[in-house]
Amino acid sequence: MWNNITSCTLWRLSPSFMASRIQTLTPLFIRNYKDFCKNKHTIWTLRNSLCQVMKKTVPTLKCNTIPHRFLSNKARYGQYTKTFPVLDGSIPSVCEHVFEENLRNSEACIQRYSELLCKVSKGGGENAILRHTQRNKKLLVRERLRMLLDDETFLELSPFAGFDLPYGDVPAAGCLTGIGKICGVWCVFMANDATVKGGTIYPISVKKQLRAQQIAVQNRLLLVYLVDSGGAFLPLQAELFPDQSHGGRVFYNEAIMSAMKIPQVAVVCGSCTAGGAYVPTMAEETVIVDKIGSMFLAGPPLVKAATGEDISPEDLGGASMHSKVSGCVDHFASSEKEAYECVRNIILTLNYELPPEETLEYDDPLYSAEELLGLAPRGYSYTLHIKPGSHFVQLCSQRSIPILFLQNTAPHAPEPTSLSQAEDHTNRLKAQASMMAAVACAAVPKITLVIGGCYGNESYAMCGRSFDPNFLFLWPNARVALVDSKHISTFPQARDDDCTGDDSELMHLKEKLEEESSAFHSSARLWDDGIILPQNSRKVIAQCLTIMKQQKYQIASLQHNPVIRL
Ligand code: COA
Repeated sequence: MWNNITSCTLWRLSPSFMASRIQTLTPLFIRNYKDFCKNKHTIWTLRNSLCQVMKKTVPTLKCNTIPHRFLSNKARYGQYTKTFPVLDGSIPSVCEHVFEENLRNSEACIQRYSELLCKVSKGGGENAILRHTQRNKKLLVRERLRMLLDDETFLELSPFAGFDLPYGDVPAAGCLTGIGKICGVWCVFMANDATVKGGTIYPISVKKQLRAQQIAVQNRLLLVYLVDSGGAFLPLQAELFPDQSHGGRVFYNEAIMSAMKIPQVAVVCGSCTAGGAYVPTMAEETVIVDKIGSMFLAGPPLVKAATGEDISPEDLGGASMHSKVSGCVDHFASSEKEAYECVRNIILTLNYELPPEETLEYDDPLYSAEELLGLAPRGYSYTLHIKPGSHFVQLCSQRSIPILFLQNTAPHAPEPTSLSQAEDHTNRLKAQASMMAAVACAAVPKITLVIGGCYGNESYAMCGRSFDPNFLFLWPNARVALVDSKHISTFPQARDDDCTGDDSELMHLKEKLEEESSAFHSSARLWDDGIILPQNSRKVIAQCLTIMKQQKYQIASLQHNPVIRL
């Protein structure tokens, strides 16, 4: 279908086993796959990555064209092995060096991933942590989440957001977002980290919060805000205030989500200054923590400057004032612990219908997930013929089967150099347009995992960010760019006006593009929902499927909602 076999792999996911299984390959795909395999030896990487991934998830190919929840495993899959034969997952010895190269590259990427994760987990650094815990007597954001959530198996989103931006490092964009269970209900959480510049909001923090709200809407998940923020990060106010997707959009979304009957609960567990004060005020139910939580549009220093009056934060906008006088909050909690218990109680009273407990039965993968590291592609030197996959996407849509896109699109040279290449381009254009239309209109949950390249227009057809997948993750080896740095010299437009076009400038451009293509660069800017390790892919995808499944049981009616644009 696409110019790399892994990119054309669309997995069918069983609706009844959504949470645990990646089910079967399309027959169309298998046909194409066999054709591909007759040709090049480099298909090894592609073939094996497919085989290995598949064998890890489905030791025997499985079909769900009939309701199979009533069948035993053997009956369910045994009868389809003729139509869906098990692919050979072994690695030809001639290609082992590719595996080794991929492995080395993956290890280097994972090392960078681990170092960065360690850095991010320290928030604003030692001094800020001391100030937060010793002087301000507050819990750290991860301790708060531990008290709020049922367990630690939450799905954290975009932890690398805010890394190495033009305006500096903003660890985790100063705000943790993710999806975790509270009293058995999957909830999106959005929690300021006040160790990062007092929890103030940078442009990247706004983007992260808007994405969390979008996930809540798209998957109809309730939202919990833990607010501890000094409001706008003032030096960047021009990038935070006036535009449509700036700070005000968070409040607009809160109102729209309420109208959509998506419950929102807030905890005031620190300062909520200026814009920060609207988040809890607009939530449906709000808990404030005594002596720790405060809300005001302008804090005591500004009051002093404006009126000359000395007033304490507690008197100006503390827990007692807001729960007894202003009515901005609904619940008074004497400690943080009590506040999170209160939130859990609120969620218990939402009259939320939950999916029935399922005993999921599935086979373990045949191979160790660690082997995926050798299958994470490092290079994109070979391409395959395009086969349109739109019909398959339409079938999934008609049958309400979620789609997992394993994206590995290869970069293309910009201009055709022969007639046959020109024809190829034209055919590709038509096929891509058809696939894009099918993907955009497929009314089923979609998850995109970029396992290698995310290059140019083909990435749209494989459900890139602009095609609104419910979730989009990257492996650390992923490359994200419109064009490959190797082709930069063939793009006359790549040179700016001052560029004389000598080799050193070209080299500089190439290095810049190389750096900008890294998975970390992408994740820092929130072009995705985070980087995940290849060996954790199965777990994360299963988690996403379970999360998405919850919406079927939500009390809110899906009809009669106002049009929402997040
Ligand atoms: N913009 C930019 N930086 C801010 C900031 C803001 N709105 N609010 C706080 N900071 C910075 C501080 O300069 C300090 O930076 P440093 O660590 O480099 O010294 C850091 O955040 C922590 O602030 P600090 O006041 O030392 O911590 P605190 O825990 O005592 O208080 C706040 C935190 C948020 C309660 C307090 O800083 C505050 O009230 N800030 C002003 C909030 C405000 O008026 N916002 C208006 C936005 S429109």
